[in-house]
Amino acid sequence: MLKISLKGCDSFVKDADYQKYVQKALAAYDVLDKETGAGNDFLGWKTLPDGTPESLINDFESVRDSWKALGVNLVVVIGIGGSYLGARCAIEALDHQFLPKKDSPRVVFAGNNLSEEYLAELMDLAQLSNVACIVISKSGTTTEPAVAFRIVKEHIEERYGKKEAAVRIVAITDAVKGALKTLSTQEGYRSFIVPDNVGGRFSVLSPVGLLPICVAGYDIRALLKGAASAKSQVSVRSAENPAVQYAAMRNLQYFELGKKVEVLVTYNPRLMFLGEWWKQLFGESEGKDGKGIYPASANFTTDLHSIGQFIQDGDRCLFETVVNIEKSRRSVTIGSDSQNLDQLNYLAGQHVEHCNAMAALGTKLAHIDGGVPQIEISVEQVDEFCIGELFYFFEASCGISAYLLGVNPFNQPGVEAYKKNMFALLRKPGYEAQTEEILKRLQ
Ligand code: PA5
Repeated sequence: MLKISLKGCDSFVKDADYQKYVQKALAAYDVLDKETGAGNDFLGWKTLPDGTPESLINDFESVRDSWKALGVNLVVVIGIGGSYLGARCAIEALDHQFLPKKDSPRVVFAGNNLSEEYLAELMDLAQLSNVACIVISKSGTTTEPAVAFRIVKEHIEERYGKKEAAVRIVAITDAVKGALKTLSTQEGYRSFIVPDNVGGRFSVLSPVGLLPICVAGYDIRALLKGAASAKSQVSVRSAENPAVQYAAMRNLQYFELGKKVEVLVTYNPRLMFLGEWWKQLFGESEGKDGKGIYPASANFTTDLHSIGQFIQDGDRCLFETVVNIEKSRRSVTIGSDSQNLDQLNYLAGQHVEHCNAMAALGTKLAHIDGGVPQIEISVEQVDEFCIGELFYFFEASCGISAYLLGVNPFNQPGVEAYKKNMFALLRKPGYEAQTEEILKRLQ
């Protein structure tokens, strides 16, 4: 079961202030629960953990099995933002960090940048592989995935022919609208729907996340069970609800202590993309109307030798949220050395994870002494169930926290600004007037 500890904030926070923010968080909880807030037509994510039909899971498995039968060993997942970060987070957390997989295809991601070198090198890999593709875009019109898909589609069609391409390509998009919907209907791709009432960054438990995670060989039933377990934990109107506590404490940090930056910390490199997914969830949900905590992430102990200096000693603008993993699933102990030239014999017989845990405790005390409050979220281990717990816990917390902050968690008006300029510079039809204006500004 997921746990939260706020003890690392005790020396910074008055209990009366905390109680005040718990009341505010409970009011925000009501808005989310009763669905009375801004963006309440985007609350479909709340029912995904226990509302995903078995038939849909069977359909994901049938895609996985049909690709296995074709010998597919590389699946390119094309999408950006909420259309890829959740799947990448789960797959990178669960994959072996060094060895190639034996029984499942390698899953790689594209369409999340516009780097020519990235795509060229991806195609180098595709040439050597047996390829399939999942293309994901809720709107069906986003430029980055559309560019990548055009290139991957051409490769698949040239190599396997148009008929087989329809088996090797699966689209996940809107039920009725968007260019990707039109294309997949015309080309006869198998397709799955991103529900209308589920926004990109809340979509990991929909086909957007579930299909890639399933195809990568992981147990999506366990993932959904973990999410359902977190859902039952955070669906109670109580000061003990961990999502209420998290939302209360992070808003208290922001409004009362002037903490403008939250660093999500992990001590396990396989959770690097949990940080990326979490940053998008909170950054796009809360960073608007001139408000919001800037979400940053760090992987310790690695980053203790880089931004650790800033966290310990720089501008006191930040607080930390540490995601603790209680149990390592692998065991490596430190041996004894007769010469002890590296002076490590005092650790002989210890598990490496024991050193990691002591580093975490030592860092916690040092950072608290340095003026950095710490929230801790703990899950048992890195597996599908616990990742599901983290997904739902953070989604629910984000909804409560954003309502407490006073913003609509489910829109992202700021994302449009760069697109307009880019389209004008790329001379997209319809943007002619803006092109002239922008070119003048760039002179
Ligand atoms: O959270 C969001 O809504 C966004 O990050 C989208 O996921 C992202 O912009 C991609 O959009 P689309 O799936 O429409 O291509």
